[in-house]
Amino acid sequence: MKQITLINGDGIGPEISDAVVKIIDASGLKIDWDVQTAGADVIEKEGTPLPQRVLDSIKRSKVALKAPVTTPIGKGFRSVNVQLRKELDLYANIRPCKNLPNVKTKFDNVDIVVVRENTEDLYAGIERQVDIDTAESIKLITRKASERICRFAFDYALKNSRKEVCVVTKANIMKLSDGLFLECFRNVSADYKNIKTREILVDNLCMQLVQNPSQFDVLVLPNLYGDIVSDLCAGLIGGLGVAQGANIGKDYAVFEPVHGSAPDIKGQNKANPTALLLSAIEMLKYINEYSHAQKIENALFKTFSDGIYTQDLGGMATTTEFTDAIIKHLNQ
Ligand code: NAI
Repeated sequence: MKQITLINGDGIGPEISDAVVKIIDASGLKIDWDVQTAGADVIEKEGTPLPQRVLDSIKRSKVALKAPVTTPIGKGFRSVNVQLRKELDLYANIRPCKNLPNVKTKFDNVDIVVVRENTEDLYAGIERQVDIDTAESIKLITRKASERICRFAFDYALKNSRKEVCVVTKANIMKLSDGLFLECFRNVSADYKNIKTREILVDNLCMQLVQNPSQFDVLVLPNLYGDIVSDLCAGLIGGLGVAQGANIGKDYAVFEPVHGSAPDIKGQNKANPTALLLSAIEMLKYINEYSHAQKIENALFKTFSDGIYTQDLGGMATTTEFTDAIIKHLNQ
């Protein structure tokens, strides 16, 4: 039986993890889940939000499914998410944003893949208090990480029959840091003659995305722009409740939704498990369990076809009702 690490997170994390595990189980696929707790709830007992046992588990399993974990704002421990990506060198964050059947949105034909650099930029955590009235964060961009993520984006495009890779920067202002990212993109693109390239500034991209998103295919971005733009793209396909993601490195992969722990709806049986379920479906494909992945995806789409939605998508179903409806379709 395949072992997979499951980080069930906090906030709505445990509710949506339970739903997804139930659905995978009902599909007939047997997985040995190595459940690992992380985040604010374990700090008191273990002195850190990301104990070594979590990293050891992922190193054993190679693959993890992760629900969201709360990050304290402005103080306290470093984000579990940022730390995990750094420790396991999960350098590529892939966030596909495609219209889902029977989920109403402003635009049809949205099919964008956000490829976000995941290890540096302003997320490197190099900050200091210069004096009481001044704080400083360093934007770290290296040739190695930039070339690696650009190559990943082009390889992804090739493998998935995508036509164009568009690089997103603010290189007109940050001439050195974003300028280096852009230079790396241009260098790497020379090895991929059959993929079209495009260059755009991040502010213009945001305007174009909300006016005409179907013009974009694969986007490759430094960490901060990638984080912000992927939430924007989530909004184009129905919101954070349906936006999936994956963090991929050379040796390990951690699949997780784009959204956070949604403390505002925690414990209310309202959370939409779709984003975590779609992330899990990609995880099953990654471990070559294609038939189960397809079966679960079909059941999810049939549930939408029946007009069963959670509240974030304008429906009335609770997390439990939505999950049960998917399971019913799995068994039909
Ligand atoms: P959030 O994504 O948790 O919530 C934003 C809004 O979307 C809220 O109104 C929430 O109710 C709604 N929402 C999110 N996921 C939903 C779902 N599955 N179903 C229905 N509605 C959903 O963002 P927020 O509030 O900024 O962050 C909360 C916490 O999560 C913070 O501590 C943040 O650092 C953390 N976070 C963790 C991430 C991770 O573990 N990968 C990613 C993003 C944020």
